[in-house]
Amino acid sequence: MKNSKQIRQEFITFFEDRGHRFVRSAPVVPNDDPTLLFSNSGMAQFKDVFLGTGVREYNRAANSQKCIRASGKHNDLEDVGHDNYHHTFFEMLGNWSFGDYFKKEAIGWAWELLTDVWGLPKDKLWATVYEGGEGVEADEDAENLWRSITDINPQQVLRFDKTDNFWEMGEVGPCGPCSELHIDLGEGTCPLSEEHNCSVNLEGCWRFVELWNLVFIQYFRDQTGELTELPNKHVDTGAGFERVVAYLQGKDSNYDTDLFTPILDEISSLSGVAYQSDEQGMAHRVIADHARMLTFSISDGAIPSNDGRGYVLRRILRRAARYGRNLGMNDAFLYKLVPIVVAVMGEAYPELNERVAYIQ
Ligand code: SER
Repeated sequence: MKNSKQIRQEFITFFEDRGHRFVRSAPVVPNDDPTLLFSNSGMAQFKDVFLGTGVREYNRAANSQKCIRASGKHNDLEDVGHDNYHHTFFEMLGNWSFGDYFKKEAIGWAWELLTDVWGLPKDKLWATVYEGGEGVEADEDAENLWRSITDINPQQVLRFDKTDNFWEMGEVGPCGPCSELHIDLGEGTCPLSEEHNCSVNLEGCWRFVELWNLVFIQYFRDQTGELTELPNKHVDTGAGFERVVAYLQGKDSNYDTDLFTPILDEISSLSGVAYQSDEQGMAHRVIADHARMLTFSISDGAIPSNDGRGYVLRRILRRAARYGRNLGMNDAFLYKLVPIVVAVMGEAYPELNERVAYIQ
């Protein structure tokens, strides 16, 4: 079985072989962007390039970005622990084109990596495209490309509205129609299958899980909500690393991968309560997730406080502590999880290694 480090590296190498520059993750605390409390996507560090106010010495990039979605437009906090595939802190694997390649390459390479390199079953993959609206046409180009340059089942290319297929970084900023790849994990994988008809983009469905989002950045949304066309067209993709790892490691849950099991084991050993992957394991999952979020955000310069970014940390810290009490941990314990988070993540994010004592 491949470990998570190998999988992360395979993604980077695949895109390096196709002319992309590996770029280190930006901090989770964004520099100079008052519209974002935390980096919520890989593209955040390239926003200036999309807007045409900045340039890089390369026009293709790839990385794994440290992301936090615990506030603002993209907020997954309430799902954490209840399901097995949302996190406040997660890694996003991304490849970018800055005014260089566009939909054809983005779609072709995503398909090639998932199906040829990683061997995902083609008949279980579903693609989605933008159905149009807000003065933007339906994305027939992407729809036709899926059907012509890949061997996806043509019936498994669906159209959705802007909730799912128009991506925006925040209320203001670069944006565009997107095309997503979802995997069908099969019957028996969704606890709600008796209550709903499992399908792509159905809120709360565990059977169809989004793996990768390919955004075709073409617009800027301003303060008044108006869209204007950008001078160049760009590609911004993001694949959910923990979900890819779970699939490739044959696990139903992100928490059963090597990204989380050492942290869950440590929580079990500190609390004396064994982890269970059903509802009983909610406290372990929340604590593991929040320990990662706090470790990374404090390492990158955030600090718990009474407002703004610091207040998000404070709420998460208190929430983790509360779930700790459910496991009988009444004294301070979160700091004891920092070394194990760093042991799991420190090779990919070496900046953590020097800050263990500070974070604790
Ligand atoms: N920006 C897009 C997302 O976060 C793709 O990277 O989903």
